[in-house]
Amino acid sequence: MTSTEALQAVQARAPFVPELAIVLGSGLGALADSPEAKAGRSISFTEIPGYPAPTVAGHGGRLVFCEFEGRKVVLQAGRFHFYEGHPMPLVVAPMRLYGRLGVKAVLLTNAAGALNAGFGVGELMALTDHINLFGTNPLIGPNVEPGTRFPDMTAVYDPVFRAHLQACARQLGQTLREGVYLGLTGPSYETPAEIRAFRVLGADAVGMSTVPEAIVARQEGMRVAGISCLCNMAAGILPQALTHKEVLEAGAAAAGRFEALVRAFVRGLPE
Ligand code: HPA
Repeated sequence: MTSTEALQAVQARAPFVPELAIVLGSGLGALADSPEAKAGRSISFTEIPGYPAPTVAGHGGRLVFCEFEGRKVVLQAGRFHFYEGHPMPLVVAPMRLYGRLGVKAVLLTNAAGALNAGFGVGELMALTDHINLFGTNPLIGPNVEPGTRFPDMTAVYDPVFRAHLQACARQLGQTLREGVYLGLTGPSYETPAEIRAFRVLGADAVGMSTVPEAIVARQEGMRVAGISCLCNMAAGILPQALTHKEVLEAGAAAAGRFEALVRAFVRGLPE
């Protein structure tokens, strides 16, 4: 699933080696339909050996190689979630692909629920660190050379990228929260008791992606940045049930700010 066939298929179609890969989470999917993306080279997941079509309704998964804010990037629309029943090697296959292509950095974006009561729905949060509660690790199995067997996870989310994100947010007049993302499988949302427990563990937000990708991206030697769109307060914080609809609506409402932040991040991407 780290397959050389996938790498060869993409290399045969990709116009360049991107500086940065951007995984578009809920709320950012529209970037894959931006004018820059339309002028770029789109590769459908169905053209990549081993990549199934996404099960979540909406756009088909694809990679778009394009010039974006003056930089060469690859936009990833659609990702493989563990809750869909995909094996972990497929969940992280795009990260292996980027690493092998020679991409130097990845920006992982997602929708998440806020645990920190000081945060609000619709706000953006830069990841400072994560807690892996997937109950597994994407590096289990034969070591994927030349990555190290026991990679350091001291600074998964690049401090220079974090500082840059904060500077971008300041320039845009946006509030950018910072915090710890706790990742778990889903697809059920958490119970209020779980959320109380996760707060004790030090989590600020909770979601169902990103952590496996960040681990593999680091093992591939890529720099990582992460941004969550806080689409709802986590279960039990407010006296109401959680709905996927609410999450989507908050994501849509934040999309403009999210896109502005990502554009500024790419424009001034530090060396
Ligand atoms: N929990 C888990 N994943 C999520 C949530 C949540 O509250 N909101 C968006 N993704």
